Parts: sequence; C-alpha cells; structure tokens
Amino acid sequence: MTIFSKFDALAKDREELLSVGFDPFGTPIEEVYSPTEALIDNRRVLLAGTNNYLGLTFSSECLEAAHKAIDEQGTGTTGSRMANGSFAGHRALEQELADFYRSRSAIVFSTGYQANLAVISGLTQQGDVIVIDADCHASIYDGCKLSGADVVRFRHNDAADLDKRLKRLGDKAGNALIMVEGMYSMLGDKAPLKEIVDVKNAYGSYLVVDEAHSLGVLGDTGQGLVEECDVLADSDFIVGTFSKSLGSIGGYCVSNHPELDFLRYTSRPYVFTASPSPSVIASTRAALPLLRDGKHLREKLWANATKLYNSLDALGYQLGPEVSTVVAVMLDTREQALAFWRGLLEHGIYVNLVFPPATPGNKSLVRCSVSAAHSEEQITSICKAFENLRDIAS
Ligand SMILES: Cc1ncc(COP(=O)(O)O)c(C=O)c1O
Repeated sequence: MTIFSKFDALAKDREELLSVGFDPFGTPIEEVYSPTEALIDNRRVLLAGTNNYLGLTFSSECLEAAHKAIDEQGTGTTGSRMANGSFAGHRALEQELADFYRSRSAIVFSTGYQANLAVISGLTQQGDVIVIDADCHASIYDGCKLSGADVVRFRHNDAADLDKRLKRLGDKAGNALIMVEGMYSMLGDKAPLKEIVDVKNAYGSYLVVDEAHSLGVLGDTGQGLVEECDVLADSDFIVGTFSKSLGSIGGYCVSNHPELDFLRYTSRPYVFTASPSPSVIASTRAALPLLRDGKHLREKLWANATKLYNSLDALGYQLGPEVSTVVAVMLDTREQALAFWRGLLEHGIYVNLVFPPATPGNKSLVRCSVSAAHSEEQITSICKAFENLRDIAS
C-alpha cells in the first residue's frame, strides 16, 4: 500500500470515461461566443449546463465595468481581505449586498465554496451542533468538517424530520445551526422554507440558507427563496455565490447579527486566501442591479425552464420533483449517463454529467441548467436532442 493505492479504483473508472474520446469532467471550452454558445471538441455547441441563469456573462454593463477596473486597478489584489486585499470596491459591494437584502451587513468571500466554509467554521466549533439537510452541497459538508462541530443530518426537505432531530438535542437545540439550500443544485427542488423556519423558531435555533442556485432565479427582486417564501427576517444568515446568476466568481454572506463581522478576524477561509480581483468585483457590482431589476429575465428564464421540464417529462424521462431552472435527467447507471452525455454533445448540446456520490439517491445525472439567454429555438433544439436519444435511457 502506498499513498497512491487509493487511486486504483479511480484509475479504472477513468479509463472507461476516457473511452468517449476525452474527459467529460475536464472538457475544455475552446472558444466562448455568447452565454449560450461555445466551441467544444471542435464543434459549435449550445450550452445547456452553465448555471448562467440570467445570461449576464456578456452584459455590456458588466463587461464595461470589468474593463474599467482592470485599467484602473490592475489584474489582482495579491492579498487577503484581512491584509492588502480589501479595496474600496469590495467594501462597496458588501454595502450593496446588505442594502439588497435590507440586512445589517454583508461579507464578500473569494468563492461561494469559501463562503460556506467561512460561515460554518466561523460560527461553530467543537461542542456545537450543526443540523444539515442530507442533500446539502459539498461545500456545506466541508464547512462542517472544518468546524469540528457535531453534525446531525435530517432527511432531505423534511421539516418533520428536522423537528425530530432538534427535539433529540434537548437543551442544545436552541444553539444549533441549521443548514439548508434554497434551491438544491442537483435536482433543482426547493426547500420547504416556511416549514423549516417554523421549526427553527420553535427551538430558537439559527438558520443558514444557501441561495447559490436561487439568487436571481426566485423572488420578485431575485433575492431567492427567502423572498419567495417571505422569510428573510427569519433567516439568520444568507449565503450565496457570484458564480451563477451574477456571472462572475465570489461568494457572500448577509445577516442582521452584528457578530457576522467577527468572521473577518476568525474565519480561516476569509483570512488565509486572496480576495477577488478588482474586475470581478466591478462586474459583480454592475450585475447586481441588473439582477434586482431583472423581472423580465426571470420571466424568460422560467418560461424556458417550464418548456424544457415539461417536454422532457412528456418524453418519459425521470426528472427532479418539480419544474425548475435545473432540469436533471436521472439515469440508473454511469454507462447510460456517459453515453447520453456524449450523444448530446454529438447533437451539439453541452450539459453537465454528474456521478454519485455528488448526487441524491446514487443516480447518475445528465444535468441541464436553463438560462434567460436561451432562445425558444435553442430550448426546442435541446428537447429534440433528448427526443432522439430516448433509447439510451430505456
Ligand atoms: C449550493 C451551492 N453552494 C455553494 C456553491 C459554491 O459556489 P462557488 O462556485 O461560488 O464556489 C455551489 C456551487 O455549485 C452550490 O451549488
């Protein structure tokens, strides 16, 4: 046994993966033409797996702001938020995020992954308890590990099970940190947030809602599921990412708890990493009002999502439980999913391929994410490709 022995099984799996011609988990996008079109494997493809929900990556406002920031402030901050990496733009974006959520304050992190790590490991430590929806994202699980707190899982989207787990904690329930997502990243289903808030209020626990996939997608002004369910005031901490609807990279946490600011001194994923570059901050600041005022984009996004979900449902595919901007086709085996993914690429459609353990129920997924930038014709093309490939799923 060596330190490399653990890779033996993976090496075998990878050989099988590479049999499709190239690595589906390392597909280079050779050229990008727009939020919905690119060159992959020397072929012009339609992008249907990008999390670019509002299609803002080529918005003229964002491009202009990013160019100006590069010209005026350079390519990077070369330092941590705690040292030389907090520019005026970082602070301004924090204020804008706090205003957007009508919250006391916000912190900007280098990625959404790090936002979860920072918030969870900053708020909890050994002796504390985190109660987590079983289907939470890897960044939430990793944050739990980093914290050293005890972790209790409750059944996915089951508020009654959350209640049961908190009851078992006895006196500790009032200090527990509950972790949920607004919209779940793999199947696109939404949390029963009102019920979860009722349970948390009954025990006096604290709630973190990760709106990574719901920011810009749900709610009148795009705040996410907290807005759609009208539970903003009851959500202690909202975490999110700039890497989806806002079209850049970075993460944030907003809260009314003044203690949030202490994370700036204690949270390792905030302190020990470089801050987002000025152009990233500038384009995110330009995107935020577009997201807030983008009701028309949300309408288009949901019209596209409804059409794709209903068409694939009518074709008999096994999908997530509700119409969503994430439309994932569940397949029983990796081989089927791999063949499907390659088949879609041959039809000029790029989607995400996801294997267990990153998936609920140990299914393999061919995961589409819809964009407001998709035209009706593009959604029709995606549906047609799925229609042609139906045999692979049966
Ligand atoms: C629920 C959830 N949280 C956090 C993240 C991490 O975000 P980022 O890409 O900004 O690191 C993701 C990314 O996919 C996610 O799905």
